[in-house]
Amino acid sequence: MEQSPSKRPKMQKDGHFSSSTNDVASKNDKPAKTALMFSLAHSIGSLANALKPFEELKINMEHIESRPSKTSSDCYDFFVECIDCDSAKLSRLVECLEKHATNVRVCTENPDDSPADSVPWFPRKISDLDKFANHILQYGGSEGGELDADHPGFTDPVYRARRKEFADIAIKYRHGEPIPRVTYTEDEIKTWGTVYNGLKKLFPTHACKEHTSVFPLLEEQCGYREDNIPQLEDVSNFLKSCTGFQLRPVAGLLSSRDFLAGLAFRVFHSTQYIRHGSKPKYTPEPDVCHELLGHAPLFANPAFAEFSQEIGLASIGASDDYIKKLATCYWFTIEFGLCKQLGKMKAYGAGLLSSFGELEYSIESDTPKRVPFDPPSTAEQEYPVTKYQPLYYYTESFESALEKMRAFAATIPKAFTVRYNPYTESIEVLNSLDKVKNVALGIKSQVDVLMRAMEKINGDGDEK
Ligand SMILES: [Fe+2]
Repeated sequence: MEQSPSKRPKMQKDGHFSSSTNDVASKNDKPAKTALMFSLAHSIGSLANALKPFEELKINMEHIESRPSKTSSDCYDFFVECIDCDSAKLSRLVECLEKHATNVRVCTENPDDSPADSVPWFPRKISDLDKFANHILQYGGSEGGELDADHPGFTDPVYRARRKEFADIAIKYRHGEPIPRVTYTEDEIKTWGTVYNGLKKLFPTHACKEHTSVFPLLEEQCGYREDNIPQLEDVSNFLKSCTGFQLRPVAGLLSSRDFLAGLAFRVFHSTQYIRHGSKPKYTPEPDVCHELLGHAPLFANPAFAEFSQEIGLASIGASDDYIKKLATCYWFTIEFGLCKQLGKMKAYGAGLLSSFGELEYSIESDTPKRVPFDPPSTAEQEYPVTKYQPLYYYTESFESALEKMRAFAATIPKAFTVRYNPYTESIEVLNSLDKVKNVALGIKSQVDVLMRAMEKINGDGDEK
């Protein structure tokens, strides 16, 4: 196995990919490189099996190295660098590799925009989110994924086959395509109807005003009705017109890193399947009721959208340790957040807004503690996932939550700053003076527009 020479990207102790500045400096002469990392169990032939897809897909390997895994004594971690691997081949390669290896990760060296050191891979363009499509931790299909034994649909072959259909839609989906419409069955619509009616009764008294104000629009424009499960495509288009947020179908649970990265692009990974009909009031995982009744209404609110994107941007390039902290902040806000409105507690977290029982409990019960959202301490808080929360964090407003989250994000150790460019739908790494100047120019022209608008509103615009 080749030893890694100097000036070559290396696998770091923390499992991250590092490239020296010399690699970046000579970028114009070199084809784009792609690096992958994966873990293999100790067994004869495991490396040969993992390398076969490279040969079959005619992907040219330039460098390979290995080291004992830091996380499992039975495994070795591998780092492979290849050249001229386009995104279609890369997706296929990852798919094949995942049959033989675990922890498959892609580290793309972008020759125009490389951050400096030891940075976990992150999507640069919105279409890079396609690479997550099959990075599912669990999806419940009849092949390749499993429902837990205590899942209400575990012993139902019809339900499992249906889940496979939804998983296939999500795995095949590519950015820019319309989200395929689904014809839901009568039973599925009945389940939706039960959830819809139960929650709709509670929303006026328990949901925050940002949720209740947009709900009638969703009924009017996206087919939110007791006897109709709205289509993700319609809801996504509605959200895009409100805040630029969009939905993207997902087959099941993504890793926190991948899921949060989507938010940086104002993309919310949404399931399309529905919970098992035998237990309409319970689901052990996100489903279309949770996404459309809990999450979607809030993404139509500009301040909430910005807060959500802020968590996503903070996750870009963050270490695993900080991804965990950000995922915890996500949990206590976007999933289980409360807010104080006109002196009363209201729910804005989707986990509450999509659960009859916990929605009432979170607002009315004296049992749980309710404390102000404070990212540095919230990020460290443990929480249960299978029972009602013993502790909720509340905010006075999304603007205040955003400010606090920004301040926390600024404390995350990173060698660079990123921003989302909505025109190119890409993450820009602000690691040079020229790039920062470009951002400043953009801000200046926005401030000019703002000043002119204020002059007009003040009535002295005509005198200028
Ligand atoms: Fe959720």
